[in-house]
Amino acid sequence: MGLILALACTAEPTPDSTPDSPVDSPVDTGELPGRALYYAECLGCHGTQGNGSDQAPAVHEALAGWTDEQLVDVMVDGQGDMEPRAVSRDDGQHIVDWMRATF
Ligand code: HEC
Repeated sequence: MGLILALACTAEPTPDSTPDSPVDSPVDTGELPGRALYYAECLGCHGTQGNGSDQAPAVHEALAGWTDEQLVDVMVDGQGDMEPRAVSRDDGQHIVDWMRATF
């Protein structure tokens, strides 16, 4: 009994006092993370304002009428002439948040 207690006691004090917080992203000035993703994955076809190009239609109608989930579906699964993009659903949600806040 005493031994178990002693072991329990010695095992207990493991102070996690070194938070070792990795990158606090000091570069991020409050921009939504979706911006960088959009610029990398969507901008080339849909443009800086989502107005589209000769490669793709504008996204405004879709933003106005579709749910977040439907928008993420298009990115992850593709639609018609748009190939699926290499983004996770989480990334897709970031992109949706950024587009809704920006366009
Ligand atoms: C290589 C060019 C290309 C890229 C890159 C691209 N798209 Fe598209 N996108 C298209 C084309 C083409 C369509 C039209 C698809 C169809 O319905 O035939 C489209 C359609 C869409 C639509 C639906 C518009 C509508 O009203 O039907 C949305 C929303 C959309 N894209 C969002 C995105 C987002 C967000 C990204 C980045 C993750 C992205 N696209 C990347 C070419 C692209």
